[in-house]
Amino acid sequence: MADISSRVDGDRVLGDLNALRAIGAYKTGVHKPTLSEPHLRSLHWFVQRLPDAGLAGEIDGIGNVIGTSAKHGPRLLAGSHLESQNHAGWLDGPLGVVYALEAARVINLDPNINGAVEVASWCDEEGHFGHFLGSRSYVGGVTEADIDAARDRNNDRSMREALRDAGLAGRVRARYEQGRHIGYLEAHIEQGETLESSGLKIGIVTSIVGIWQYRITFTGEQNHAGTTRMAIRKDAGLALARFCVDIDNRFPAACGPRTVWTTGRITLDPGAPSIIPGAAEMLFQIRDDDPAVIARLEELLHSMAAEVNAQGRCAIAVERIRTGTPARMDTAFQGAIEAAGVDFADGKSLRMPSGAGHDAQILSTVMPAGMLFVPSIGGISHHWTENTADADIVTGAEVFVDACRRLLAQ
Ligand code: GLV
Ligand code: MN
Ligand code: MN
Repeated sequence: MADISSRVDGDRVLGDLNALRAIGAYKTGVHKPTLSEPHLRSLHWFVQRLPDAGLAGEIDGIGNVIGTSAKHGPRLLAGSHLESQNHAGWLDGPLGVVYALEAARVINLDPNINGAVEVASWCDEEGHFGHFLGSRSYVGGVTEADIDAARDRNNDRSMREALRDAGLAGRVRARYEQGRHIGYLEAHIEQGETLESSGLKIGIVTSIVGIWQYRITFTGEQNHAGTTRMAIRKDAGLALARFCVDIDNRFPAACGPRTVWTTGRITLDPGAPSIIPGAAEMLFQIRDDDPAVIARLEELLHSMAAEVNAQGRCAIAVERIRTGTPARMDTAFQGAIEAAGVDFADGKSLRMPSGAGHDAQILSTVMPAGMLFVPSIGGISHHWTENTADADIVTGAEVFVDACRRLLAQ
């Protein structure tokens, strides 16, 4: 361990995380959809803490909070998000925001350190209204028309209405200024079991996957479930189920070593026990950090769909609804995290790709970016049981703050 004190206050970090966990608590996790009352309360909580970290800021016109510093010298931007998936974990997002706040407290108030950490809470990383709307807005990738079109996937409320109800309508959206920051650093729970199963404490992210998503619709013939003979049915639900299994059989021959694919939602129409579904829809996602692999799998998806159409029983249509470019993390940022891990985590770190999407991939399009992971107990995330040992949270904070210091000193 390093012989100098990092001056990270572990109790303060844990106290902040638990304060955020108490807002919108659900079992041992939280339920904080984007722009919901508990999400907004969390944003106000964060804004109130900025002055004690030498920062000023407010919630902007899309629900981002950017805390800026007037301190002289280089500036590093750090953050994550405060909304959650529905009925999900307490650390996915808040960990990175609280580490950023702690780094700002330690670094900005120290006159011997040249430079400052500025902090961000990005809105809607979890994709209730879109995907990465907050960080994409910051880098100039979201138009007013995009906001007009955005609707809450939970209840179909428009984003305009949600922003108006939150008192944010008409507020300016914060935009990044070229050259203002030396880069962006984000901490996150790993959301997988690699670190835990290897007895390691810190993940040094090398790349972040691209996420491609599809709406796949099947059209058959709605009919009576008792009187329609099996041989003549056009069951859209069955066609969908067969297609899912076919994907699982055929993708492995075309995928990369870490490709993942998921059917996250299936809807049958009309969805009643005594009616053969006339239509069915699946939301399907592919993730990889190699665009060539994703392109290959998309081609396979289309050729499999063509086979279904050729059979003629049910019609299938594949619509691509989301793309994302995989991101490489900056090598100097990886080096700073690794060096900090030697001093504050006994060198128990590992370079690894991220299978989850993160705002860092959006920030990496305009500035150098890096990410640090801490272990997730049992690798569980996007579920309310998500957790990390307190000691690992504190170690991660020490490594994070030291990495910030090193980056500002470079
Ligand atoms: C972000 O939460 C993701 O789904 O990768
Ligand atoms: Mn997250
Ligand atoms: Mn998440």
